[in-house]
Amino acid sequence: MDPKPIIILILPIILSLIATAIVTASADSSYVRPLPRRTLQFPWNPKPSSNPQQVHISLAGDKHMRVTWITDDKSSPSKVEYGTSPGRYSSVAQGESTSYSYLFYKSGQIHHTVIGPLQPGTVYFYRCGGQDPEFQLKTPPAQLPVTFAVAGDLGQTGWTKSTLDHIDQCKYDLHLLPGDLSYADYIQHKWDTFGELVQPLASARPWMVTQGNHEKENIPLLKDAFQSYNARWKMPYKESGSGSNLYYSFEVAGVHVIMLGSYTDYDIYSDQYRWLKADLSTVDRKRTPWLIVLFHVPWYNSNKAHQGEGDDMMASMEPLLHAASVDIVLAGHVHAYERSNRVNNGKADPCGAVHITIGDGGNREGLAHKYKIPSPEWSVFREASFGHGELKVVNSTHAFWSWHRNDDDEPVKSDDVWITSLVSSGCVAEKSHELRKILMAP
Ligand SMILES: *[C@@H]1O[C@H](CO)[C@@H](O)[C@H](O)[C@H]1NC(C)=O
Ligand SMILES: [Fe+2]
Repeated sequence: MDPKPIIILILPIILSLIATAIVTASADSSYVRPLPRRTLQFPWNPKPSSNPQQVHISLAGDKHMRVTWITDDKSSPSKVEYGTSPGRYSSVAQGESTSYSYLFYKSGQIHHTVIGPLQPGTVYFYRCGGQDPEFQLKTPPAQLPVTFAVAGDLGQTGWTKSTLDHIDQCKYDLHLLPGDLSYADYIQHKWDTFGELVQPLASARPWMVTQGNHEKENIPLLKDAFQSYNARWKMPYKESGSGSNLYYSFEVAGVHVIMLGSYTDYDIYSDQYRWLKADLSTVDRKRTPWLIVLFHVPWYNSNKAHQGEGDDMMASMEPLLHAASVDIVLAGHVHAYERSNRVNNGKADPCGAVHITIGDGGNREGLAHKYKIPSPEWSVFREASFGHGELKVVNSTHAFWSWHRNDDDEPVKSDDVWITSLVSSGCVAEKSHELRKILMAP
């Protein structure tokens, strides 16, 4: 028999055995991880200067949505026309615009316009600055169920595109991003290419983001941190009583979501901590049975990357979040996926939060492969692959979490779990006294 066919048959088996050995050495799964992908190239594509670019939307208080876009033309109006049928705009809203300069870079005019009141679960057609093209958005539902897409540490590589394509294929109401958006890293025009890359998704569903280290871009004595991020990704901080775009909250269909800042003060005397206490005192678990928190640097992380970076923030804020019975914490930063059991103070706790690290959106730095061995008892699933998460909050007691890796451009589901709420398990009632004591303390 000719040996060639045998080699052809055996070769893939040998290759997959080698790959499996590599993967199992670093993660708990036998999944064969694909290679990193290159940073995307964006051809220069001149458009009329009044053309709206980088359109994205975000929730802006009850029944309202903020539309953000950029024009090269400084005098373009911050006007959004919108309505529920295509080409027929029954309403118009005026907003404001800003711009910033960063060393030799000058941004376009950044427009922020709040539209509403809007009907829940409704498709709206809209135009920015009186210019075509027309965009389409869907408002989230007023009541559960609601579905969140979650992906952090996105960047703008071939893997980012793959992650976004997979998210685009799923049915979801809004996107949660736990920090590290563009990986512009001081090169300001990369904020613009990132804005263009995400526009197809971010103009259609609200993108609720918090900041990561790659948004900082501070230069001692020259530039404060987060200048570009704050100008471009304005979130509903004023609407939620916060004095800073770096932390805020919003409510959607029975879920109270708190976005915290890993890179601003978080000690118990800080403005952020004070705001967090005030925000928690407004949460009514009858109205919003689910309480979810996002920030960038994970507190529960058994990957060797970024070990201990979240410790100070955790020491300050975990007791408060625990007293408040936070159901789920979503973080990024570590370029991998990990999910914990309900945990508090480093130990399994039925009234603790489920911590999920989902920093595997696809950025150019690649994956974080090395894990601590043995795996800590709180760690349920960990793997270094690019992908995204989906959280479907079904009703006041049940939510379904699933992680999907970008496996050969197929959204292969790789981890999933039903999470029952702390309202339904009695923790919220049990701890109401403890929470009140912390919230009342000066
Ligand atoms: C909530 O959803 C879960 C899962 O679909 C279901 O088993 C449960 O009965 C629902 N609970 C209520 C109160 O509807
Ligand atoms: Fe990060």
